[in-house]
Amino acid sequence: MKHNFSVVPVLLSKEPSLSYKMALGFLKIGLARLKPRFDFNYNHFKDLGLIYFKLTPLCNLHCKMCGQYGDRGCMKGGAAEAAKTIVPLERYKQIIDEIAPRRPVTYIWGGEPFLYPDLLPLGKHIVDKGLFFSVNTNGMFLEQHAEQIVRDKWSCIFVSLDAFKDVNDAMRGKGSYERVVRGIEAIKREKERQKSNHPFVGIVTTVTNANYANLEEFVAATKSFDIDIHMFNLGTYTNDAIVDRQKKLMKEKLNTNTDFLSCYNTGYNKNIDTRKLYDILQTIHNSNFGDPPLKSARITVPALNPEKIGIYYNDLETPVRDHCIVPWCQANINYNGDVHFCADYPDYILGNIKDQSFKEIYNGERANIFRKTINACEGGMFPGCLRCYQNMLFGKKIKGF
Ligand SMILES: C[S@@+](CC[C@H](N)C(=O)[O-])C[C@H]1O[C@@H](n2cnc3c(N)ncnc32)[C@H](O)[C@@H]1O
Ligand code: SF4
Ligand code: SF4
Repeated sequence: MKHNFSVVPVLLSKEPSLSYKMALGFLKIGLARLKPRFDFNYNHFKDLGLIYFKLTPLCNLHCKMCGQYGDRGCMKGGAAEAAKTIVPLERYKQIIDEIAPRRPVTYIWGGEPFLYPDLLPLGKHIVDKGLFFSVNTNGMFLEQHAEQIVRDKWSCIFVSLDAFKDVNDAMRGKGSYERVVRGIEAIKREKERQKSNHPFVGIVTTVTNANYANLEEFVAATKSFDIDIHMFNLGTYTNDAIVDRQKKLMKEKLNTNTDFLSCYNTGYNKNIDTRKLYDILQTIHNSNFGDPPLKSARITVPALNPEKIGIYYNDLETPVRDHCIVPWCQANINYNGDVHFCADYPDYILGNIKDQSFKEIYNGERANIFRKTINACEGGMFPGCLRCYQNMLFGKKIKGF
């Protein structure tokens, strides 16, 4: 996909201090490929470039394609009970203090992160420690917290919106478009009022068969929002055959049950006119919709060659990226403190931050067994990795794709 690299000059031109922190994390991720693959005595902790915190299992929306609360969602029903196990603020602060010297980018998500009772004090602590603090939110609570978000100098907010008005609301809930847009506008007003470049504001759009035909209209509508990045995530999908293969392999090699992958067998990849989708994405990437240069960047994840978009959606068993790098530079902390490499598929647990330091877990035996196992697999990945979002972002590009 053309112009994916435009994000670098856009962000640099807006706020170099934030761009620097982000670039540092991504540099470490790039370098992770050169590090030892399964030396059990190696200090992987020092290579940590990105850490995800899934703060809460709760969500106020039920977006249809969502692997957690959607049609096939894994968290439907059990979220209220699960929320009783969340990690207290004080423990998160200790973990932040422990990891801060490694300068990882932090990425907060959920559920809906604004339903974690102490999101704002946690954010302030992370910013005060000098780390890049980014939050992926459904945007429904932005308006009421805009003043403090800007005052506390959050680094980046990624707001999820999937289309213009009714098409968005059909997937994400009635009235959500207008409310989220009010939140984005409130942040813009506060940035102007407080004369601040913090935070960067991005929109994340998950592309499915329900919204792809509507994307150009949506991008034109976002012109007035003053966003810095618009990310088009081609979506996470799987099928029964892949799930079966993953279950077998995880049981055999890691003695782990695979419970989460099947929640992404949503069918929202089906019946997409992929030639048309490619044309739409090209138009979006190539047109500035009347905006000045460097006003905002648009990126598609994964960036694919034109003729391969059909494979991405219709042939889920053909890899488009391989050699997952995540276990060598990233981690996800789940709402209950469990640490995992795979953010969307929290089956294999490395340890729990309520009981151990992060470094102990990250350099621990279970982490190293996972590293050794995936490294020995064909293409450096498991069957379940085929459309994993982390692998789409950071996996090795396969020739031709
Ligand atoms: C699971 S949500 C959690 C954060 C917050 N609740 C939100 O919606 O932004 C994280 C991101 O995943 C996206 N998402 C939801 N379902 C997805 C799917 N099936 N494939 C890929 N991304 C998906 C959401 O739109 C959102 O941008
Ligand atoms: S708001 Fe986020 S977590 Fe909640 S259902 Fe929608 S995509 Fe899923
Ligand atoms: S690519 Fe596979 S191993 Fe890597 S994070 Fe995704 S699911 Fe986990």
